[in-house]
Amino acid sequence: MTDKATLTIGDKNYDLPILKGSTGPDVLDVRKLYGDSDHFTFDPGFTSTASCESKITYIDGDAGILLHRGYPIDQLAEKSSFLEVCHLLLNGELPTADEFAKFERNITYHTMLHAQFDSFFQGFRRDAHPMAVMTGAVGALSAFYADSLNVDDPKQREISAHRLIAKMPTIAARAFQYSQGRPFVTPRNELSYSENFLRMCFSVPAEDWVPNPVLTRAMDRIFILHADHEQNASTSTVRLAGSSGAHPFACIAAGIACLWGPSHGGANQEALEMLEEIGSVENIPAYVQGVKDRKYKLMGFGHRVYKNFDPRAKVMQKTCYEVLEQLGINDPLLHVAMELEKVALSDPFFIDRKLYPNIDFYSGITLRAMGFPTNMFTVLFALARTVGWISQWKEMFEDPSRKIGRPRQLYTGATQRDYVPVDKRG
Ligand code: CMC
Repeated sequence: MTDKATLTIGDKNYDLPILKGSTGPDVLDVRKLYGDSDHFTFDPGFTSTASCESKITYIDGDAGILLHRGYPIDQLAEKSSFLEVCHLLLNGELPTADEFAKFERNITYHTMLHAQFDSFFQGFRRDAHPMAVMTGAVGALSAFYADSLNVDDPKQREISAHRLIAKMPTIAARAFQYSQGRPFVTPRNELSYSENFLRMCFSVPAEDWVPNPVLTRAMDRIFILHADHEQNASTSTVRLAGSSGAHPFACIAAGIACLWGPSHGGANQEALEMLEEIGSVENIPAYVQGVKDRKYKLMGFGHRVYKNFDPRAKVMQKTCYEVLEQLGINDPLLHVAMELEKVALSDPFFIDRKLYPNIDFYSGITLRAMGFPTNMFTVLFALARTVGWISQWKEMFEDPSRKIGRPRQLYTGATQRDYVPVDKRG
């Protein structure tokens, strides 16, 4: 077994060490390549590039496997709780009962927002997209919690991480209530993470709010399914922002901004809007033809890493059935989704490109049934992904080999030339 590869450029050979992970493909270490050979590697979109070393999440895209700290996502979604998964991602292990009690108290203790933070929301238009509000509000946390911004202090890093996990539901619920023209609801410490969030979103002063355990469990499971996903675009954004030493609130705001894109977290909103546009089963063939004619993409389908079923999509589909059954909803869009999935999975266009449903295909129907408008879908994704972002950010700071992220480029612009005065141009 060789532990190095040899690259030949012209008449020179360069040894590239081969690094082995605990599982998954080996990687070629090209860190010294430029210094030794005066050549960069070229990989736009990072399709063949590992940007960091990590112990948090592992994906085998061909086998449809997703592990957090080694635990399969379906087991976590079935048996764990979102807060337990937060502890796992952040600290590396499932907590003991004592550790969990302490962690839960730390999160609960930080759910409230500074009173003045509420007036910050008033500056936004009521019809602003809640993701626009989230980007601004999370960035503004640094103006209110300046005592945990020293990224070189592990204790302050921990406090910021807890604050983010704890306050994100409060901010997200406020963004929602504000867009609905309803008053803000104060968090309740005796409730579970997900029940507290649903109460902050849906309770109104005019009547008592009655929790529904099936919906609370579904919310918690949806949070678990979105908690982390390795080095995706928003996580890489958080790491790159953090590599400069930027404080965590700024980094998470950057992650939220990236997540909003329709190819990433924004796809859950677009997937439901697509199902609404298709409207009924008889319109599916024409819509699929439009996809094949490259007029648009089938939202909620395809993934950079999964070339098989997204394991999160399977759990999401089950959760979707449970929620609709509990609420007694017979949503015609579910029939459209199921038929569309069947048609796509038997069509060579999708089979050849290994396009399968991703997590967003069934999440929109579920969230809509729970009472969330489409523009809140990506906000819920951001809320859940915050723990993944901050865990990856924390891991980066604990890595002694951390360097500022600084990709290079293949320059194809003009070479050096002399400035031309305006009367000599043209
Ligand atoms: N519908 C139709 N064709 C598709 C789709 C799709 N959803 N996704 C990929 N393709 C085609 C693409 O046109 C290309 O075809 P060809 O080789 O003939 O040019 C081929 O499949 C490979 O696609 P790609 O664009 O090279 O794949 P990628 O890895 O760069 O893109 C993706 C991954 C997720 C951006 C893309 O599949 C997509 O845009 N999907 C729809 C949006 C979506 O559902 N995103 C949510 C992802 S899961 C949640 C998250 O992680 O945020």
